[in-house]
Amino acid sequence: MLTWSSIAQEVPLLSNISSRNNISLNGKWNYIVDPLENGYFDYRLMPFETNGFFENKTFKASELQEYNFATSATMNIPSDWNTKDEKLFFYEGTVWFKKDFKYTKSNNTKGILYFGAINYDAKVYVNGKFVGSHVGGYTPFNFDVTDVLVDGNNFVVVKVDNKRHKDNVPTVNMDWWNYGGITRDVVLSQVPETYIEDYLVQIDKNEKGIVSGWIKLNSTVANQKLTLQIPELKIKKEVITDSNGMAYFKVKAKPILWMPQSPKLYDVTFSKSDENVTDKIGFRTIETKGKEIWLNGKKVFLRGISIHEEAPFRQGRAWSKEDAVTLLTWAKELGCNYVRLAHYPHNETMVREAERMGLMVWSEVPVYWTISWTNTDTYKNAERQLHDMIYRDKNRCAVVIWSIANETPHGNDRDMFLSKLAKYAREQDNTRLISMAMEVTKSPNNVNRLEDNMNQYVDIVSFNQYLGWYRGTNESCKLMQWDIPYNKPVIISEFGGGALQGLHGDKTERWTEEYQEELYKQNTEMFARIDGLAGVSPWILVDFRSPRRQLPGIQDFFNRKGLISDSGIKKKAFYVMKDWYDKKKEEYK
Ligand code: GCU
Repeated sequence: MLTWSSIAQEVPLLSNISSRNNISLNGKWNYIVDPLENGYFDYRLMPFETNGFFENKTFKASELQEYNFATSATMNIPSDWNTKDEKLFFYEGTVWFKKDFKYTKSNNTKGILYFGAINYDAKVYVNGKFVGSHVGGYTPFNFDVTDVLVDGNNFVVVKVDNKRHKDNVPTVNMDWWNYGGITRDVVLSQVPETYIEDYLVQIDKNEKGIVSGWIKLNSTVANQKLTLQIPELKIKKEVITDSNGMAYFKVKAKPILWMPQSPKLYDVTFSKSDENVTDKIGFRTIETKGKEIWLNGKKVFLRGISIHEEAPFRQGRAWSKEDAVTLLTWAKELGCNYVRLAHYPHNETMVREAERMGLMVWSEVPVYWTISWTNTDTYKNAERQLHDMIYRDKNRCAVVIWSIANETPHGNDRDMFLSKLAKYAREQDNTRLISMAMEVTKSPNNVNRLEDNMNQYVDIVSFNQYLGWYRGTNESCKLMQWDIPYNKPVIISEFGGGALQGLHGDKTERWTEEYQEELYKQNTEMFARIDGLAGVSPWILVDFRSPRRQLPGIQDFFNRKGLISDSGIKKKAFYVMKDWYDKKKEEYK
């Protein structure tokens, strides 16, 4: 999956990118729509060595010119093209993007070109030279482009292809819009020749009263003096790198613990002679005890809501702090202490804002529905996305659950794939809880029974259930019993139903707010009968675009299960859920 080329290469992710010495490449990019990849292949389908759009060639009047970025339209990046150019609303294919930028070269400074995410398949060129490619629409990646940068005027070209493929992750069908483009921040980060690449700082999992972790340099240089500082805890610890460029530390500390009702964060600085990297870090513990989830040694109920990365009001891919604060403020108004960020890793700002606002996070890779379980490249793709999600957010105390899948069909191939992925997640991070959204399989005689072989690989047994919408009626909630034969906490990771905001009628009439309100009333009453229920995340906070929702006048390519409409108006069911959470909050005081 890593693409290595002679002059530039993909390098491990720069942690905490927003704190680095960056040139932002956000803003206007020229773009060329290229449905037949005419800028990449010749007419015999051979990739161009030269003459591709990536060259951004200047032509003489006598030469044949058939593309020109400079006279092409522009689009503000980050964004998805679907909502920025109405000709591209349904478009799935290649769009080329180009951006000019100035750069001042200096000795012992490296240029790292960083993308927050590109959906889905990206090929990146700097000054006409290929620097690398990346697949996966929701995780960051970066390239060391030092050797292709020039002093003064430079340009970057990106070929983005969002076509769906059976063996991709996600696969060809999903219930969300396949927004294509450079959908998150782009920066050129200037770092020293030897730089602080990554770090981890947490409450020690095994030793009370200890904060431990490590600092990693980009190169295997030993005996480099590094300093960890947490001023508010009166910590200033000097450490020395080993032959792997790693420096480990353990310091005595009793930090105020992060919790939703008081989300305490500390300024933590990692430094060396020529570099300082400052992050805001919270400290907490998360564990399960039998059927309970414990935060900081105290039983907690996850009062959640599921959220897609869809921008409030304007739709399209959310990416900004404003988008995050709007969505998370609605979650707080609902009475949440927890959000399920579905069905893929959301942008880093969203996770950091959840942490700042006091919301625990379920973060998920898009191993969604009917993935190609026997394809080894598909598995490597899923594992790479899981790695990058954990790598990016391992210092975010708000993240308490890593989810490896959603609604995947039972079977040996799927069990092999997911059990391997679950073990990998545990290897990458044994300090957080592992889960996945399962499905209720049988309900003989009004007993909903959850049976899933994956129960042994997860810490929390989570499942989606749609009584009153896809199965049964709202009334059938009254009779339903639940049989979950595992001594683990239970989260209902999805329940809900659709309503068009402003459509009113009898509570038995589908798509009315009254129907959705009744569904929430009946479901939340039923939850009292679920032994070991430790959290819920209703589907979903806000109506969101989906190519699977065609009912004219009602859906119009929106999934209407939001508790809030796409224009930000709360539906009646919102208040049912809010009341239930208010009572839960009292119960767990
Ligand atoms: C599924 C799935 C969601 C989907 C929802 C629905 O549970 O996980 O991605 O949007 O149901 O049908 O609305």
